[in-house]
Amino acid sequence: MAKTINPVAVSFVESKGAMNHVNIKVNDVPTSFKVLKQKPDAAVPAPTDEIRIVGVEEYKEAAACLAEAFATDDVARYFVDVPDREHWSEEEKWALHVEILEYMVYAHILKGLVTTIGDFGAVALWMPPGKNMDDMFTIFRSGMWRLNYRLSAEGKRRFFNEFLPLLHDTKHATLGERDDDSWYLVYIGTKPSARGKGHCRKLMEHVTNQADREGRATYLESSNECNPPIYRKFGFEDKRTVHLQRGEKNVALDIMVREPVKQEQEKGKD
Ligand SMILES: CC(C)(COP(=O)(O)OP(=O)(O)OC[C@H]1O[C@@H](n2cnc3c(N)ncnc32)[C@H](O)[C@@H]1OP(=O)(O)O)[C@@H](O)C(=O)NCCC(=O)NCCS
Repeated sequence: MAKTINPVAVSFVESKGAMNHVNIKVNDVPTSFKVLKQKPDAAVPAPTDEIRIVGVEEYKEAAACLAEAFATDDVARYFVDVPDREHWSEEEKWALHVEILEYMVYAHILKGLVTTIGDFGAVALWMPPGKNMDDMFTIFRSGMWRLNYRLSAEGKRRFFNEFLPLLHDTKHATLGERDDDSWYLVYIGTKPSARGKGHCRKLMEHVTNQADREGRATYLESSNECNPPIYRKFGFEDKRTVHLQRGEKNVALDIMVREPVKQEQEKGKD
């Protein structure tokens, strides 16, 4: 899992505080946004075992799937389970966990690619080559700016000062000049009840097949030690492990890259 917000842009948001002076009604974002980009044809429901692109009106369902998939994920909980929110109930923490994922899904619908399969059994958030969600339009429309007041002081330090710069710098250090020319798997999650049915493989291959045709690498951060063996099956290789260090125990993120597989017609040219 990873975030593609440029820390520079985010720190600008942060430096403006909650940006209450901006003329946007809190409850209008993101639900009021009416752009119907990527809207699926409602009259023709896709079979549940087919991949389809998630539309903006479905962001809550997609986020609910990811929230369930990442319910106990150490990185997802890193911003919620903080010492200065110890007094919060589990319900309040869960609401914040879901909310963060709603912002992420919404921003990726606007600027990236959100796919699902199995009636929201599994969801993937992708950032295509050269794209990011740094711009103020996306930060506002997705609701991401609200993290400035929804996260606690420690939550903000973890998210803005540690997590985002670490991801940004690590991706750049790992991919070098290909940083802006690779596919980025930001999140992939299958609900526990839908696991083991091949959903993850299908969502993954949907994009890695395209990356192969384009001759591009695919990058991901894995927040769960169970997952690298799964991603190796899809052609990803371990590059390095980085750690979030502000919690009681360090949280590891495994960095993996998949090199493009040459197409049959390309192989013939060698
Ligand atoms: C990782 C995850 C997305 C896999 O989803 P899934 O839909 O169950 O995976 P699939 O059914 O497509 O399985 C993909 C491959 O991994 C293997 N696999 C899946 N779960 C496995 C497990 N627990 N142990 C070993 N292998 C496993 C499958 O056998 C399959 O291999 P094959 O296609 O060669 O037979 C899912 O477990 C998940 O959401 N985990 C929690 C969230 C998370 O950690 N996401 C990734 C963060 S970067």
